[in-house]
Amino acid sequence: MRKNNSSITDKLFGEFDRFLKIVANPPENPSQLTPESESTDYIHNHQDKKNVEGLMRINHTGEVCAQALYYGQALFAKDRSTHAHLIKAADEEHNHLYWCQERINDLQTHTSILNPFWYASSFALGATAALFGDKISYGFVIEVEKQVEDHLQEHIDQIPTEDIKTHAILAQMKADEIRHGQDARDAGGVDLPQPVKNIMTGMSKIMKFLVYRI
Ligand SMILES: [Fe+2]
Ligand SMILES: [Fe+2]
Repeated sequence: MRKNNSSITDKLFGEFDRFLKIVANPPENPSQLTPESESTDYIHNHQDKKNVEGLMRINHTGEVCAQALYYGQALFAKDRSTHAHLIKAADEEHNHLYWCQERINDLQTHTSILNPFWYASSFALGATAALFGDKISYGFVIEVEKQVEDHLQEHIDQIPTEDIKTHAILAQMKADEIRHGQDARDAGGVDLPQPVKNIMTGMSKIMKFLVYRI
């Protein structure tokens, strides 16, 4: 079992500090540079550009949520190894966040104004999942990563093939999300009940609808 070295109040202050950093500052210092960042950029027509901007805004918010979910789950992880597993995954999600931010900057568009809300609600969701125990918490990771994998594929199918920068980012993210899901399965994650999966799908649809626009 994990030993509590600092009080829950200290930990919550630390998490609030992280929340402020993530929602108010662009991500820095990725451990893996953005795929194809040196490639020549593709010039989209107006309609395609608007669509790619909206899709990358969704992916950026998805990665803000991933940070919040993993850190929320890590906060109440029962076992030290589960905590380490979740923090390692969060580090990789930080790379995804950085890559999405870089692509959003390239496209000269903006991130979603709703990110603070999605961070806070995702953190609460992750923390709640962790309270049900590590196997449920890993099960939650499995379902989240599966849903992210599916929406990344939907985005890949919509983006012009000539836009190799966006494709390279999404392809690497998809490969990483599949591995995160598999790692959670290998760690003992259980299949969540269908009604819980349906609620998660519903929340994700609302997020995508809003964030594509604002
Ligand atoms: Fe990710
Ligand atoms: Fe992931």
